[in-house]
Amino acid sequence: MDLINNGVICAIETSCDETAVSVVRNGTEVLSNIIYSQIDVHKKYGGVVPEIAARKHVEIINHIFKEALKEANIRSSDIDRFAVTYGPGLVGALIVGVSFAKAMAYALKRPLIPVNHMHAHIFANFLTHKDLKPPFICLVVSGGHTHIVDFSGYNSIRVIGKTRDDAAGEAFDKIARALGIGYPGGPVIDRMAASGNGEAYSFPKVSFADNDYDFSFSGPKTAVLNFMNTAKQKNIGYRTEDICASFQKSICDILAEKSIKACIEKKYKVLCLAGGVAANSYLRMKVSKMGKGSGIDVFYPELRYCTDNAAMVAARAFYAKEDDKYIFLNATADLKIDIDNDK
Ligand code: KG4
Ligand code: ZN
Repeated sequence: MDLINNGVICAIETSCDETAVSVVRNGTEVLSNIIYSQIDVHKKYGGVVPEIAARKHVEIINHIFKEALKEANIRSSDIDRFAVTYGPGLVGALIVGVSFAKAMAYALKRPLIPVNHMHAHIFANFLTHKDLKPPFICLVVSGGHTHIVDFSGYNSIRVIGKTRDDAAGEAFDKIARALGIGYPGGPVIDRMAASGNGEAYSFPKVSFADNDYDFSFSGPKTAVLNFMNTAKQKNIGYRTEDICASFQKSICDILAEKSIKACIEKKYKVLCLAGGVAANSYLRMKVSKMGKGSGIDVFYPELRYCTDNAAMVAARAFYAKEDDKYIFLNATADLKIDIDNDK
């Protein structure tokens, strides 16, 4: 395919609570990847407060941009193209990155490539695995999304299964909050589960007759909450580590089983993981083990490219077909993953 986006791409990501700017050369050579996380600000509320997130992005984005150029050892005039996440995400937060990128592209007379945040998570795999090529199945699991995606080409991406209620990361965050062990919940549960017994409790797994690639996580989440309430009422003790390990197992087993099943049924030999929950150590282990047993190669991005960052936005922009000035680009809170644009 023609790589219209060769050269130096400066990418900007502000879809949630990370302000991130990255400079990437020729698609995979990451010259800088600066991430300012607002976690400490939102921690005390137990989740991201959209208005605060947007204000923090405004305060810091200029500094993060300068730092990204400094670390990459380039000047703004060395940038060939800009790329920016324009959705899905918190609209107030997205607007900051989109406005900044539009202003920079306009001032420097450079094209601006609009990037779908969920595509960017998938393309993070290309940063870590330089020889990876489509087709493959990708399990995209983040704080707001859980999808099984048929990635048949760089611009042919189709959702074949998704959650019908909570996203996997959201379920991790809610259970951690109920257990009072911190925010964001995924990394804490992952850590505590390491010294817990995953067989201690059994929480329900949900299947659907009409599309068995779909997920539901509100069932296991409610089961954990009910268990905790009953234990409290009856004054029965439990080890938080055991709850973490058992809950993590119930969520990750079903994620692994359905994605491997998708590979087998679609006759794909490669499975990729993407998104914040792809950082989960049990999920990585489980999927790799099941992959080995089924002759499927399993890939996942390095940890720093699993959670939100701008290098993955540049990686996606590198393969994008759109290449325009996009002065009328708007932040879009709801954006579909599906595209069919390779022809
Ligand atoms: O992709 P991401 O950084 O942001 C979104 O686009 O949502 O994902 C954040 C989510 C949070 O829900 C967080 O709890 C989860 O990813 N997460 C994890 C782990 N690290 C982050 N979940 C499970 N295990 C982890 N190690
Ligand atoms: Zn994300």
